[in-house]
Amino acid sequence: MGFPSILIVDDEKGARFGMKMALENEGYTVYEAASGPEALDAIDAECPGLVFLDINMPDMNGLEVLGRVREAEDPPLVVIVTAHGSEKIAVEAMKKGAYDYVAKPFEIDELRLIAKNAMENLALRDENKRLRSQLENLDSMGEILGQTEAIKDVFVKIGKVAATDVTVLILGESGSGKDLVAREVHKRSKRSRGPLVVMNCSAVPDTLIESELFGHEKGAFTGATSRRVGKFEQADGGTLFLDEVGDMSVSTQAKLLRAVEDQRFERLGGVETLHVDVRVLSATNKDLQNEIKEGTFREDLYYRLKVVEITLPPLRQRRDDIPMLVHHFLGLFSKKHGKDVKGVSKDVMQLVMSYDWPGNVRQLANVLESAIVLAGDSILTLEDIPGEVSGSTEGLPVRSASKLDIDFDLPFKEAKKRAVEAFEREFITQSLGEHDGNVTRTASALGMHRQALQQKIRELRLRERTGLQD
Ligand SMILES: Nc1ncnc2c1ncn2[C@@H]1O[C@H](COP(=O)(O)OP(=O)(O)OP(=O)(O)O)[C@@H](O)[C@H]1O
Ligand SMILES: [Mg+2]
Repeated sequence: MGFPSILIVDDEKGARFGMKMALENEGYTVYEAASGPEALDAIDAECPGLVFLDINMPDMNGLEVLGRVREAEDPPLVVIVTAHGSEKIAVEAMKKGAYDYVAKPFEIDELRLIAKNAMENLALRDENKRLRSQLENLDSMGEILGQTEAIKDVFVKIGKVAATDVTVLILGESGSGKDLVAREVHKRSKRSRGPLVVMNCSAVPDTLIESELFGHEKGAFTGATSRRVGKFEQADGGTLFLDEVGDMSVSTQAKLLRAVEDQRFERLGGVETLHVDVRVLSATNKDLQNEIKEGTFREDLYYRLKVVEITLPPLRQRRDDIPMLVHHFLGLFSKKHGKDVKGVSKDVMQLVMSYDWPGNVRQLANVLESAIVLAGDSILTLEDIPGEVSGSTEGLPVRSASKLDIDFDLPFKEAKKRAVEAFEREFITQSLGEHDGNVTRTASALGMHRQALQQKIRELRLRERTGLQD
């Protein structure tokens, strides 16, 4: 596959010619259009990846063309070509979604550079789309289960960073899956045959942590009766996962910074400088920005550790993954404890879907495990669920104030779609619960037609989610 093609839109033939020559010399396929309408046709016909669009054309203003182009499902990048002194228009065009602008007259090098950057941008966009479509039908990545958009964002990031050697800082509440993510990144990296060494920075007392990380020579301190190989050395050729990295003391952080940056260090009490090849992943549920402000975490280390950040959404922000996790854990723990629990009752499903899970997936797993151990029957009922969860709602259904979880990194349209879906889901589920799952009564309470509600329930897959009967 070659580069995406380029379309040049300008009413002046001479201007088009110069640009076309310059870009063709770089190996691009270049099309021309002499007017707005011609441009729109050419975009339909040739699907260029990049459009240079002259803003001053007699028949259709460039901004108008830009507006029309941006309506497309998968619009090309548009670089606005303005006359010198009309930066205002350029700014307006950028606001309307133009990718860049260039003022006439421009140097050929400038044009080349813009085209090159745009192509890189397109390649990234393609890569994202490819990863997304691969994930479209998946409901897990390795051991990480989930099919909501929120967790798929995590899958996409894992896919992207795995092949590289960049450091990854994994953030998320307790029990949200940080450990799983670290393991998955290692497993998918070219270091997967090398070791994955895990160091829990909070479990080790501060006095021992440096010897844990870097090792020590015999006699380095009282009690050092023999040489010890540290985690950095053990991880050579593989990955070092620093869990709870936020709990490390500032003086250890300084040494860690050097080791991560230079891949070299000395054992405690040693003179020899050791070189290693280690990829560093780290995780924390602390707010490191805050720790930096308080002076308990080094800013330079923070940036060194988080070349890429992966943030795990808390379970309550991806409730649609709960049914699938429930079934996964039922199978797992039934087997482990020699039970034959096949499912959960409707009200248990409603309960676990509406509970807030401060301990996230780990808490869900623990709750189900204890229920399975204690339960005799093949279906878990409310009585089997520990009070920490079932007591939280004093009889279902409870109307809970809901908070919109908005992902501000998404394009507006996508964010809105997700928010609307989440709203519909929550509202309808709530009302269905209040009417014992009776669609006719729910529809009338909501002021909807019965068929319309049925349709919504299907679209939002509420039956699968809530275990509602038809
Ligand atoms: N998406 C998921 N699919 C399946 N199991 C999961 C998922 N997320 C977490 N788990 C399970 O939940 C438990 C907790 O996950 P994990 O140890 O990765 O959390 P963590 O974020 O590292 O927690 P902590 O902050 O306490 O270290 C593990 O048993 C893990 O297997
Ligand atoms: Mg962990």
